[in-house]
Amino acid sequence: MQKLLLKNIKTLVSVYENAPEKVSGKEMKNLPCIDNAWLACDDGIISDFGSMDEFPGITDWKDLEVIDCNGKIVMPGFVDSHTHIVYAGNREQEFIDRINGLSYEEIAKRGGGILNSAQKLRETSEDELFEQSKQRLFEVISQGTVAVEIKSGYGLNTESELKILRVIKRLKDLDLIPVKATFLGAHAIPAEFKGNKKGYLDLIINEMLPAIAKEKLADYIDVFCENGYFTAEETKQILLEGKKYGLKGRVHAEQLSHSNGIKAAVECEAISVDHLEFCNDHDIELMKKSDVMSTILPGAAFFLNLQLPPARKMIDAGLPVAFASDYNPGSSPSGNMKLMMSLACIQYKLTPEEAINSVTINTSYALELQSRLGTITSGKMANLVITKEINSYGFLPYAFGSDLIDKVLIKGKVYK
Ligand code: NIG
Ligand code: FE
Repeated sequence: MQKLLLKNIKTLVSVYENAPEKVSGKEMKNLPCIDNAWLACDDGIISDFGSMDEFPGITDWKDLEVIDCNGKIVMPGFVDSHTHIVYAGNREQEFIDRINGLSYEEIAKRGGGILNSAQKLRETSEDELFEQSKQRLFEVISQGTVAVEIKSGYGLNTESELKILRVIKRLKDLDLIPVKATFLGAHAIPAEFKGNKKGYLDLIINEMLPAIAKEKLADYIDVFCENGYFTAEETKQILLEGKKYGLKGRVHAEQLSHSNGIKAAVECEAISVDHLEFCNDHDIELMKKSDVMSTILPGAAFFLNLQLPPARKMIDAGLPVAFASDYNPGSSPSGNMKLMMSLACIQYKLTPEEAINSVTINTSYALELQSRLGTITSGKMANLVITKEINSYGFLPYAFGSDLIDKVLIKGKVYK
């Protein structure tokens, strides 16, 4: 049995005997900690923890690795509940076009944006796509991400959507960190279906979905509910079709305009609604009556200079809020969850406690991984972050540009 002991931990963050599934409203300010702590793991699972003042001592040294965490903070690793990291190439040219005055929507109308990525992806082999995506997975793990959701949506035909989902499956099979796959065929209308959205919806429902279900390639289904993409009615139709195959919904909602995506998601009992820049008071009431996780993607709002979603208002209204990266080539070319935490504090006025909860326990809930990840609790996976020597956990979002992650532990083993 492989055993690990972390001792002299300056602060052990988010410790629970019995962890809640998620934290909402005022509870988001709670971050139970133990100062001067120890933590033990057996075979990749957290087995016990406590204060160094009551450290029982080591009785069995066999196969035991000890890490002295003097001056360092130990916390649950980040769970990133929204990414598109399986893509081909990049879109720096559109970044420059936007600097020069074009909007994201204008670029998309010219055939850029998602369709630009779709063209690149269709020309890329599965093996090449796997190699590119694997590097991004390695990158985010070394930045402290210990579980990730990955969407398809840059294929936009059956063959290429399957190619992306098979790459996601191969990333899962690396057995590094938990990976959840989301089918996002309804990400955009491909060029060959221009003016024939109905034809593309038929393809999604009657060809893509059955093929994906047959190979068991998806855990969730997602729709980009937006002007020029898919309406709330179409979103509902797709989510309900996905449900027939056991796929729970997630929705890209209210990002560039108010499109009633939240309403559609709540009506279809989606697990997560993401973006929310144009979320209004009525939407907040709708979300309060549901179990959906309200998810903010601060990288996309920052990178595209969008108006900010009302995260503070949502928390003050009693909602649970998660923050994820949206790592993708068009609207958020970063999967750095520590940076997302800084944006949560600086731009959305979350306290460091709320920000830490928003990228750990609440994102775990959004991926239905809350029994395995998101808090320091006996029986959960030892997927942890050990920081460099810092004064307090508040220093993590404060020093927004610094790499403060000393080690990332995956199943109790040092990854970084
Ligand atoms: O989550 N909003 C839609 N989809 C992505 C962006 C995709 C892209 O521009 O490539 C997002 O922001
Ligand atoms: Fe997205």
